[in-house]
Amino acid sequence: MNTIKACIFDLDGVIVDTAVYHYKAWKRLANSLGFDFTEHQNEQLKGVSRVRSLQLILGWGGVTKTEAEQEQLATQKNTWYMEMVNQMKPEEILPGAKEFLKTCRTVGLKTALGSASKNSMTILEKIGITDMFDAVIDGNKVSKAKPDPEVFLAGAQALGVQPEECVVFEDAIAGVEAALAGDMKVVGIGSPDVLKGANLVIKGLDEMTLDKLYKL
Ligand code: G6P
Ligand code: MG
Repeated sequence: MNTIKACIFDLDGVIVDTAVYHYKAWKRLANSLGFDFTEHQNEQLKGVSRVRSLQLILGWGGVTKTEAEQEQLATQKNTWYMEMVNQMKPEEILPGAKEFLKTCRTVGLKTALGSASKNSMTILEKIGITDMFDAVIDGNKVSKAKPDPEVFLAGAQALGVQPEECVVFEDAIAGVEAALAGDMKVVGIGSPDVLKGANLVIKGLDEMTLDKLYKL
């Protein structure tokens, strides 16, 4: 017997490939400060809040900035990021994402978004899938960043289900850890080498089925 009642989806890298836009905008910021960082380092930014990401990047570049300067830099990055987001079209939904959301809803599973991004609502509107979620928990609603489970626990609460009745879909190691810390099952989207601890790792939601979900 399965006890899964809800699926909670991360946004960046799971539903849409905004992870690439985050990378481009952060890279542009680092370059403007006279240094660069690698794609490997970028992995550590996935699922991590805007402020914390900036602090990590400044650390890699050995650059110190005041709090006011940091705020300005984070705003600059977000402006560059949103320039790309504002060009987004519904076709940019990752393969299988819309289909799997629809499948979940058809069989009565609840769906929620659980993302650290303060831009979540804008992105969902851009790609036209806002109405496919029973609840949206984003960076404006939580104060503790992944790997803290707050965002997913808030999602479960908003859906009226228990944490152990939820499956989280995540592309970031911090997100996988957050789901596990919240006592939830987790499907990693990406590489098993990176997403250690996930109950299952797939390359994208196009590989996900109800059969795999109920076997977790
Ligand atoms: C997601 C992304 C991170 C991003 C964070 C905050 O978790 O994976 O790369 O830093 O959201 O996004 P925001 O849109 O609020 O800057
Ligand atoms: Mg993500």
